[in-house]
Amino acid sequence: SRSYRIAVLAGDGIGPEVMSEALRVLDAVEAKFGFTTTREERFVGGAAIDATGHPLPPETIASCEASDAILFGSVGGPKWESLPPDIQPERGALLPLRKHFGLFANLRPGVCLPSLTHASPVKNELIPNGFDVLCVRELTGGVYFGQPKGREERDGEPVAFDTMIYRKSEIDRILRVAFTAAMGRGKRLVSVDKANVLATSVLWRETAVEVAKDFPEVEMSHLYVDNAAMQLVRRPDSFDVLVTENLFGDILSDEMAMISGSLGMLPSASLGKQKEGGLYFGMYEPSGGSAPDIAGKGIANPIAQILSTAMLLRFSLGENEAAAAIEAAVAKAIDDGFRTGDIATGAAGETKVGTAAMADAILARL
Ligand code: NAD
Ligand code: IPM
Ligand code: MN
Repeated sequence: SRSYRIAVLAGDGIGPEVMSEALRVLDAVEAKFGFTTTREERFVGGAAIDATGHPLPPETIASCEASDAILFGSVGGPKWESLPPDIQPERGALLPLRKHFGLFANLRPGVCLPSLTHASPVKNELIPNGFDVLCVRELTGGVYFGQPKGREERDGEPVAFDTMIYRKSEIDRILRVAFTAAMGRGKRLVSVDKANVLATSVLWRETAVEVAKDFPEVEMSHLYVDNAAMQLVRRPDSFDVLVTENLFGDILSDEMAMISGSLGMLPSASLGKQKEGGLYFGMYEPSGGSAPDIAGKGIANPIAQILSTAMLLRFSLGENEAAAAIEAAVAKAIDDGFRTGDIATGAAGETKVGTAAMADAILARL
């Protein structure tokens, strides 16, 4: 039978809580669709610092290298915030993992189900049918990684600096991912930049215009990032695919998550180069973080982790039916009124549940 290897890195805060629910869902689709996975659970982030002194131990990387994909929870939290920046969970584990595996394309599908529009802060009469936006975020370049980056004393006071830098080839490849995604959807692409101020954005826009020539069927437009942030809350359903650089994508995707109901709903896939046969090595994780404010209470929304697992099945394993079955079961659980605290509104017909009971509701609908 078909069998695969997955590195499971649950991490910190709500990571382990939502991960165990996602793994239960994975068990169920394996039984239903006749494939198996070997899972290697490894330390990452704060949990790895506590266990080994390092946020990304070599054995964790080795396990990822030996796998078909990485299922990632989240890392970070107050306990590790005062460590030197380079060994904090985010900069010492998450960013290096993305860089090490060349995961330059981050897909974040912001879907507001019609049955969940009332949980959106956007005026409901504006989104009667919900919306479905795909944010394509560049993930291994820009100001996150540019050198020099640092801090020094100048004229008797500290100064700090980051470098925003993009190579044309980095812009070109992420735009091709976005155009290709648009071809498989509504064929509309909005490229988001700040070309009225930033040199990197001028290069970005130029490259977008060139790449567009290879995708004549896709209608492309440009928005400045400030305007894009505004348009997203004004008319989210006017977007199909949105593509942008690393930091803008980080910010816009949290906004997109909230208007689709909650950050706890938004999955993500971080992909490298496509392999022969069309699959990708990838890392799959909720777009949100370790949520220290609700960790340990059993109330986190497991849907982002569960939908990230569906993306893993589709993009890294090619188990498309299992992926679609998970997505349908999640939609059904939402349609049937199951709500964790972050998406509960008190409306009639809602059943308020915790993390495990939400997963139970999804499992029952698989
Ligand atoms: P966060 O995303 O952890 O939380 C923001 C808000 O969203 C909180 O109120 C939280 O309770 C809520 N939320 C997030 N996920 C939820 C879920 N599944 N269900 C219900 N509510 C949910 O962001 P933050 O508080 O700014 O950061 C906390 C820590 O997480 C920091 O250390 C940060 O660096 C880290 N972080 C990690 C990742 C990652 O590992 N991919 C992503 C973002 C933030
Ligand atoms: C995300 C997170 C990370 C990012 C942090 C934790 C480094 O916010 O995945 O969106 O900024 O990319
Ligand atoms: Mn983020």
